[in-house]
Amino acid sequence: MPNWKRCSGGPSTKSVKDQTAATTRVKPVGGPADRFLDAIAERRSVYALTRKSSIPNERVVEIVQHAVLHTPTSFNSQSNRAVVLFGENHMRLWGIVAKSLKKILPPEQFEGTVGKVRSFQAGYLTILYFIDTKVVKELEEQYKTYAENFVPWAQQSSGMLQSNVWVALEKEGLGASLQHYSNLIEVEVKKVYNIPQEWSLISQQPVGVPAEGWKAPEKDFKPLEETVKVFH
Ligand SMILES: Cc1cc2nc3c(=O)[nH]c(=O)nc-3n(C[C@H](O)[C@H](O)[C@H](O)COP(=O)(O)O)c2cc1C
Repeated sequence: MPNWKRCSGGPSTKSVKDQTAATTRVKPVGGPADRFLDAIAERRSVYALTRKSSIPNERVVEIVQHAVLHTPTSFNSQSNRAVVLFGENHMRLWGIVAKSLKKILPPEQFEGTVGKVRSFQAGYLTILYFIDTKVVKELEEQYKTYAENFVPWAQQSSGMLQSNVWVALEKEGLGASLQHYSNLIEVEVKKVYNIPQEWSLISQQPVGVPAEGWKAPEKDFKPLEETVKVFH
């Protein structure tokens, strides 16, 4: 269960170091969005994954499809793309990452890094996030005044999508993290999974039931006075 601290005095002003995650999630008023806010706070990066899922594959696909449909994009351009990899396809992706790292890293450094890659491969599935650059280019041509904004806007929307999926998966009992090996693996990934050339690979999200006993590490929070200004 979430551990929101309900209080009446507004956001905590304690310094970051004395705040646990629970006391930082200040919810002084409360309202219909509380369950949504709880879900946001409960999402964490989970690196200790198992090759198990808490839900059927169809449910994972449903979550990704739902999030792609309903995550906003600039001008409703629908530039987000996602690829869901299960089973051998998931395993192969992390094999591609390991092989690519081996090519560029000195052996000692590779040995230090490949363990991380294996921990992602130990998960149950991986979601790949892309942006369709064809959509972005069309917008740049159509709306010349905004041209320079369409790349960052597409990236922002991709981030929203990734977060939406991440939060939903967490609610369904799955752990996930966000990884960025895109530059290293994009060419091979497109070949192996028959991805259109215009899709630009943004991130890789390994997913699985968290290993038994896994506990999210404490997280530091900057004081809200520093990060949120309010004018009434
Ligand atoms: C845009 C973005 C990029 C990130 N890239 C990585 C990454 O490449 N590798 C990684 O392990 N975590 C990555 N993360 C996860 C953050 O490090 C993590 O969300 C942050 O430390 C807070 O921890 P939490 O996810 O447990 O709340 C990324 C997060 C965001 C939002």
